[in-house]
Amino acid sequence: ATMGVLPLPLPLLLLAAGTQVSGLQLDGHLDLGRCRFALGMEDGSIPDSRLSASSAWSDSTAARHGRLGRSDGDGAWCPAGPVFPEEEEFLEVDLGRLYLVTLVGTQGRHAGGHGREFARAYRLRYSRDRHRWLRWRDRWGAEVIGGNEDPEGVVLKDLAPPPVARALRVYPRAPRAMSVCLRLELYGCPWDAGLLSYTAPRGQVMALDPAPVVLNDSTYDGYSVGPLQFGGLGQLTDGVLGLDDFMRSRERRLWPGYDYVGWRRPPGPRPHVELEFEFEGLRAFRAMQVHCNNMHTRGVSIFGEVECRFKRSLATAWEPTPVTHSLGGAVKDPSARSVTVPLGGRQARFIQCHFFFTGEWMLFSEVTFLSDVVEEAVGASGGWGHGGTLPTTAPPTMAAPGEPKPGQPVAKADHSHTSILIGCLVAIILLLLGVIFLILWRQYWKKILGKAQRRPSEDELRVQLSVPGDTIVINNATGATRGPPRYERIPPGQGEYQEPTRPRPSLPPRSPALLRKPHPPLHPSPSCFSPAPTDHDTPPPTEPEGGAGAYAEADVTGGSAYAVAGPAPGPAPGPALPAFPRRRLRFREKLGEGQ
Ligand SMILES: *[C@@H]1O[C@H](CO)[C@@H](O)[C@H](O)[C@H]1NC(C)=O
Repeated sequence: ATMGVLPLPLPLLLLAAGTQVSGLQLDGHLDLGRCRFALGMEDGSIPDSRLSASSAWSDSTAARHGRLGRSDGDGAWCPAGPVFPEEEEFLEVDLGRLYLVTLVGTQGRHAGGHGREFARAYRLRYSRDRHRWLRWRDRWGAEVIGGNEDPEGVVLKDLAPPPVARALRVYPRAPRAMSVCLRLELYGCPWDAGLLSYTAPRGQVMALDPAPVVLNDSTYDGYSVGPLQFGGLGQLTDGVLGLDDFMRSRERRLWPGYDYVGWRRPPGPRPHVELEFEFEGLRAFRAMQVHCNNMHTRGVSIFGEVECRFKRSLATAWEPTPVTHSLGGAVKDPSARSVTVPLGGRQARFIQCHFFFTGEWMLFSEVTFLSDVVEEAVGASGGWGHGGTLPTTAPPTMAAPGEPKPGQPVAKADHSHTSILIGCLVAIILLLLGVIFLILWRQYWKKILGKAQRRPSEDELRVQLSVPGDTIVINNATGATRGPPRYERIPPGQGEYQEPTRPRPSLPPRSPALLRKPHPPLHPSPSCFSPAPTDHDTPPPTEPEGGAGAYAEADVTGGSAYAVAGPAPGPAPGPALPAFPRRRLRFREKLGEGQ
């Protein structure tokens, strides 16, 4: 491997400036909530040369176009082949150095409205050396991550556990043979700890009632041979601190003891657990912090003493003088805690520590180191110095909590709480909508029922023809003035309801006696039987049936009042004329309910 010539390493710069921009808290433990910086796909601080792909549909959809929030080229990276049924096409991002990747943002191909391709789901693989590629899995063992629902929208997904990676590959997934395209951003922070891997004995199972407590390292991404795990990182470095009660875990749906890796006291003198840590480059170690459980009631205790040894390279022997640290007697407080072990600035790339038992069990949830880089990474071959600038030269900015803006670091929102809140709000809104709907519905039915109650009698519906041009109002005798309908004849020109567009037919002379008729005849008088105007024959007569419109209470308009379509009933007007057939009535317009 070639070694790049390195500029002053970023962790040193940050330490020198006294800032705290990285994911490291002062106490050394990872603060995942602050480790959410955009790593440079959108802003271009990851250069094109660090982007590659298994294939590309065309040069305009090559890997370099797979930057979130951008739409150069044809708007995204699109693989040449389908991603179904095999999911073998990938977009690869070489981050140039180790990062803790906490979040992935994806977007489809929009291209100003031309693109329609997006990936509904994807898988991730990551690598710390770009040789060994590891499948990312969530804490429940699932690999598939939900992706986009449309070509334009950005979907951000938390990676829990967050992988420590130098390079990532995104494998889009499709439910059937279809084209997919992808734009990508990664979020996280530099893995300043420089820890490449740790070696530890496998965690064990504590047989407790009612359920056994499984204290294995379930996110370990290295190898497992016999009783040992080596060559990977896992729960001891994932930034999740266990609770006081080790049987409870921070995440739901996980087994008791999930947050801890635990070992039972082995037989023999000076029983201990041996952990070994390998770092990227030579570092000067100030301290180690071990987060331990101390639940005496279950036989769990903090280690009583620790002894660490150092070496500078794999081939050399352990340095003869170890650093030892004693906790000075049993710690009574049963709460989980972080124990700081000073390491005196020893320089090394490998550290091996023996933790001595004081109780029956020893449970660790996190181990971190406070260190300064002395000599840069040996493993970071071909990355640094090749792309010109460091991917993080631009000072990262903190995001407001919950800000979902793509390309910006997103402060870790408490997703469970947010979803509960949204759920409550939606429920309230739905409830209100339901109430409003009910009120409107009631009003509507009240209206209809009110009308139906005033259903006129047969007599009232027996409407007589009148002289065209006259306006006759049938009073349906609603309410208190119930009785036989009273007809009113309004002289032409005085009627309120004229049809302005129709020429008024010539009128025969009217008798003033007709003006007010308190008791109208049931049968029309002869004068009422002038033929209906012909222009009313044109629309086919409609027969409103049953509904509210059938009760034409006052079917009157201007000169054509009661001009019911149909042939005029015979040329022989006489007192014995039949009532006008009801089905010939046509509803025209409701004039009102009063006089
Ligand atoms: C750890 O234990 C859980 C629960 O028994 C099991 O599902 C999981 O596969 C184990 N993981 C490893 C890496 O041993």
